[in-house]
Order: sequence, then C-alpha cells, then structure tokens
Amino acid sequence: MTDPRTKRTAIRDSLSQSRAVVGLQWGDEGKGKIVDLLACDHAGVVRYNGGANAGHTVVVDGRRLSLHLVPSGVLHPDKLAVVGNGVVVDPAALCEELDSLESASVDCAGLRLSTAAPVVMPYHLDEDAARETLLASQHAPDVHSADREPIGTTRRGIGPAYAEKAQRASAVRLGDLVRPKLLRKKIELACEIKNRTLAPILAEPTHYDAVALTNWGLEIGRRLAPFIVNTTALLNDTLAVGGTFLFEGANGALLDIDHGGHPFVTSSSTTSLGIGPGTGVSTRSLGTIVGVMKAYQTRVGAGPMPTEQNNSVGERLRTRGNEFGTTTGRPRRCGWLDLVSVRHAVTLNDCDALALTLLDVLAGFDELNICVAYRLDGEETTSFPLDAVDLSRVEPIYETLPGFSDEITDTRSRSQLPQHAQNYIAFIESFVGVDVELVSVGPDRAQTMRRTSF
Ligand code: GDP
Ligand code: IMO
Ligand code: MG
Repeated sequence: MTDPRTKRTAIRDSLSQSRAVVGLQWGDEGKGKIVDLLACDHAGVVRYNGGANAGHTVVVDGRRLSLHLVPSGVLHPDKLAVVGNGVVVDPAALCEELDSLESASVDCAGLRLSTAAPVVMPYHLDEDAARETLLASQHAPDVHSADREPIGTTRRGIGPAYAEKAQRASAVRLGDLVRPKLLRKKIELACEIKNRTLAPILAEPTHYDAVALTNWGLEIGRRLAPFIVNTTALLNDTLAVGGTFLFEGANGALLDIDHGGHPFVTSSSTTSLGIGPGTGVSTRSLGTIVGVMKAYQTRVGAGPMPTEQNNSVGERLRTRGNEFGTTTGRPRRCGWLDLVSVRHAVTLNDCDALALTLLDVLAGFDELNICVAYRLDGEETTSFPLDAVDLSRVEPIYETLPGFSDEITDTRSRSQLPQHAQNYIAFIESFVGVDVELVSVGPDRAQTMRRTSF
C-alpha cells in the first residue's frame, strides 16, 4: 500500500497540473467548446454541479453535439468523463443522451457516475413546473415584484432535486438504483410526502405510486449500473498516480445559488467554489482556473440584466450569435458586455486566465459599449448587488469603444485581429485584471487563438 504521506503529496502535485473551466456570466458562455479544446491535456473531465439544465455545444469538423449531463470531454475517447456527486442526475434524460451519443458514434466507455449523485425523480419535474405556474399566476406584470415573477427555470427538476437532497431520508441517490430494498424505502417515504403536499397543487390529478416508481428506477439502474462508482475514490486515486483532471463548471457565476442575483438563479454552486463539495477533491492546490466569457452579455429566463438591449442591437447580437438555448430552444436576451458582473465572477472563481468567446459576433458594430459601473440610488458603484431587487434598479454606466468592421471568423492569430478588436480585448484584461489566454471566433475547435504558453 502507498504511504499516505506520499499519496497526499502526489495528489497535490497532480492537482497543481489540473484545471477548471467556469462560466463568468449567466451561462452559455461557450464552456463546452473550451472544455473540449483543453480536455486532451488531462486524464478526464469532471462535472461537479447542475444537471440537465446545462446545454453545452461542441462542434468538431462541422459536426455539432449537444451535451447536458455527460461531460464535454466525452469526444476524446481515451478520457474519463466523470459526473461527480454534486450533479443532480435525471437518469431518464441521461439514458436519452447516451442513446443520441451512441447514434452519433461517440464512445461513452469513459463515463463514470457518482454513486452519491442525487437522482432527479419524475415528481421533481412536476414540482418545478408547478412552482413556476404558481408564480406566474400570482405575478401582476405591471407591478414590479422581483420575488413573485416566475424564475423561468429549464423545468428539469433541478431546484426540487437539490431540495430533496437537503431533506436526506427521501433523497434517492444514483447508487440506490441498484439497491432494490433501499430504493423502495426511500421512494415510499417520498411518495407519502408528495401525495399529500405536491399532488394537490398539480393541475392534473396525480397519484405517485411507490411500486411503479421503484420499478422505473430499478430498470434504469440496470442500464446505468456499469457506470456507477465511487467517483471520490476514483478521482483521488487517479490524481495519486499522476493523472490530472479538468473540472467543468455548468451554468454561470451569476446564476450561483449564493452569489448570483437571488432568486433568479439556479440551485447549485456554479463557480470554482463548488468543485470541492461537488467532487470530494480538495481544490487547495488546483492549478489553473479558466473563466469563460462571451464578448457581450446574454441571459435565458427571468431576472434583471442591466445591459440588456431590447432593440436592434440585441436583435443583431441574437441573430449573429445564434443566441437560442441549447436545452430549451428559448431565445436568449442579449446586451452589451457587463464588466461589473464579470469582475464579480472573476473574484468568486479566483480566475487565472480568461477565454473570450464569440468575439466574431461583434464585427460590424460602429461602436461597442462596455458597462464599467452601476448607478444605484444616485451613487456610482462597482459592486454587484446580490439580490434581484437591487440589481433590477441599477443603471449601467458605459464606456464606448470604436467597433471593428472586418469579419474575423478565419483569423487564427491575435496580432492579425483588427486593431479595434485587439483594443477591446486589452480593455477587458485591464479592467478585470486577468489575461485573455484564449480567443474564440467561431464554434469550431479550429476557430480559436491560444497563447503558446497556455
Ligand atoms: P455553454 O453552455 O457555456 O457550453 O455554451 P453553449 O454551448 O450553450 O452556447 C454557446 C454557443 O456558442 C454554442 O452554440 C457554441 O457552438 C457557440 N460558440 C462557442 N464559441 C463561439 C464563438 O467563438 N463564435 C461563435 N459564433 N459561436 C461560438
Ligand atoms: P449552461 O451550462 C443558461 C437558468 C435558467 C433559469 C435559471 C434557473 O448551458 O451554461 P434551473 O432550471 O437551473 O432551475 O433554472 O437558471 N439556467 C441557465 N441559463 N445556461 C445554463 O446552463 C443554465 N442553467 C440554468 O434559464 O433562468
Ligand atoms: Mg449552454
């Protein structure tokens, strides 16, 4: 057996060569593309938060793949693709995703699912929808009430599944799908509670049947069994023998349950702060944290967005950036880059490097606005308010930079970018205090400029 001291040192060494890729806005920053690009340097890619609310698009040689629960490293067949304990897994959605990857000839042999990952059950999907419907029925559109508007969730059962995890006894975990007795016991308790509390508020008469739901879980468990393991041990043991990992954040920093614009957030820790609890790996020695940001701002769902452009600017960004959700197909709200919120996200994540995506979308604007401060109650501030009521009251203060007219999708070197595009990047670096190491000018792997040292 390896000496425990030697093992700890080896884990720290490997972690110092490991990386994280996280989103710095309201999601959809292009994390999937950047993870796919960097995955080849590591033993595997690890998801640590969120669930099937995530939609990560990877384009390789014109082939486009949408991933929701499976880590974006899966396109590298020799790599591990690990779903950590912090991810809430809808097993039916996962099976569908595996089917679609199989039909696209993607080998998922490297997939490993944490035995401790909470399962999204059918009643969680019902509760997510019911809560949104209730909020909608109470919402008077002419009255400002940031606490009464529907959140605009993806309706993937994310919030209710994380709430169930916190309730403990009734929370089904992936490992339970192969333990019939324990599964039945948990589902019986859950059904007793849901039939009294949830069923009466649903639009359709519903009765949750413990036997049927247990059989449903066991059947899916038979399919997923080969992938379900103790991922905490797997990750630490792999690190101990020199393997390094890429930790893939889902959603974005401004959707963080604690540090986003509450309550218009998701239900997990979306920043690098969530990696430890979501994987069982201590991140004290983690090497590099790469923050991904698009060159402008987008948001899907409700909640304040200070730089939103409900006009021809927003329309142009949406059309050129093809800003429609990967998971729900909803049009994304678009606006000017908001560096106040990006700097907040960079601090939370403790970023070492930035990846700037979708810069090509900005070509053709005469001028580009960048939000550098907010005005709140007559005072100028660069703090990001942590609740939606204050965030909805801020007024953005812009700096205006000259735009660039040339299309840049075929540019492969930073020095070849139009001078005004280079100035735009330099402005971001100086405001945020972190260097842009990767610039993306199109969805394909090849449409990327990467600093040689990175
Ligand atoms: P994620 O959730 O952060 O992984 O991002 P999504 O995949 O949901 O959304 C990003 C979208 O932008 C996807 O359709 C990508 O294929 C696309 N994309 C990524 N980088 C670029 C880029 O540099 N330029 C353009 N035009 N599209 C990009
Ligand atoms: P990726 O990983 C964009 C948003 C939803 C909604 C709020 C809460 O693709 O960047 P939820 O279903 O999580 O309870 O919804 O969070 N949201 C995302 N928006 N990209 C995502 O993931 C998102 N995940 C959640 O639109 O406003
Ligand atoms: Mg997405």
